[in-house]
Amino acid sequence: MFPLTVNRLSLALYVDKRGMAQLLKMMKAVRVHKFGGPEVLKTETIPIPSIKHNKVLIHVRAAGINPADTYIRSGGYGLLPELPAILGKDVAGEVEEVGETVKNFKKGQRVFAELQERNGGYAEYVACPEDNVFPLAHRLTFAQGAGLYIPYVTAYRGLVTKCKAKAGQLLLVHGASGAVGVAAVQLAKSLGLTVVGTAGSSEGLELVKKVGADHVFNHRTDGYLEGAVKTVGKFDIIFENLSNVNLGADLTVMNKNASIAIVGCRGTVEINPRLIMQAEATVHGVFLYNSTSEERQAAIDNLLEGIAKGWVNPVVAKEYKFEEAPQAHHDIIHTKGATGRLVLTP
Ligand SMILES: NC(=O)c1ccc[n+]([C@@H]2O[C@H](COP(=O)([O-])OP(=O)(O)OC[C@H]3O[C@@H](n4cnc5c(N)ncnc54)[C@H](OP(=O)(O)O)[C@@H]3O)[C@@H](O)[C@H]2O)c1
Repeated sequence: MFPLTVNRLSLALYVDKRGMAQLLKMMKAVRVHKFGGPEVLKTETIPIPSIKHNKVLIHVRAAGINPADTYIRSGGYGLLPELPAILGKDVAGEVEEVGETVKNFKKGQRVFAELQERNGGYAEYVACPEDNVFPLAHRLTFAQGAGLYIPYVTAYRGLVTKCKAKAGQLLLVHGASGAVGVAAVQLAKSLGLTVVGTAGSSEGLELVKKVGADHVFNHRTDGYLEGAVKTVGKFDIIFENLSNVNLGADLTVMNKNASIAIVGCRGTVEINPRLIMQAEATVHGVFLYNSTSEERQAAIDNLLEGIAKGWVNPVVAKEYKFEEAPQAHHDIIHTKGATGRLVLTP
């Protein structure tokens, strides 16, 4: 591979095994060659993917960072990609090129996309099947677009698909200041629930209130759950973003027939099952990739409707350049006091 730069376009002359020369367009991408700490994220120059058939080539303007990206990077996740891998499941950008069977998108269109098990978002370009690409409304920035799919579809799966949330119910979003928590608060308010949201910093509490929670409490303050119950009563639904810390306590603040959605978990926890028995409560595991195609479609329809109606508004906490990916991966796990989504930009 011989790198060249022509009119600021990065190119490389590639000679294949048969001695045939090809001029390849190149892009910047953050790749992982071995699983490990944040330092394994390397910004490299590699060929832009070629597309055909139903694929859309997206010029990525922003890639969302999900905590799952860090679990994959470290090798501790159920669905691991082949190496070398480009991580990143949520992107927003513009359509660069479409395959011959693509019907609904054209060059230049603003879009967001979900890359799911395929990953690939931490790159200047990504190829994605048309079914996983959605139009991005002009009122949303690219950085917000990179915080749409996973946060809102996860919130829908937890609240609607699993817990069957209904207007008038009392909901606790335990950990409401991150990307998924914000989405859960906005979705629940659109459905007419009363929402209590928690955060671990004053900025986080302010944000959770601003995105629509009726009451906010700091999960780093002693006695906050008792304080919440004194203010609003016990909960019909708990959307749990850190179950390994909170599940035992959640079981003490539930109403009869309550539902708990286990969305986030980073370890083990001791619980008293008698509390589930006495309340006849249901504890749901929530895993996005277990969605049936009907469930996935219902969540996408709700997301697109929420974008059109205006209640879907991702909050971007911070943008990092590709070269800062190791820092971003450190921050999403270790920095206390989330205020929305972290995003990478080329
Ligand atoms: N099951 C699935 O399919 C699925 C899909 C997507 C995401 N997830 C998981 O859902 C979780 C949230 O994702 P995200 O993208 O929103 O992450 P994020 O943006 O990093 O947010 C993390 C949230 O957890 C909160 N938190 C920290 N300590 C807490 C505590 N003691 N009690 C309650 N909350 C606490 C944080 O609040 P402060 O920083 O303000 O303390 C913040 O609101 C992650 O564990 C992620 O892996 C699961």
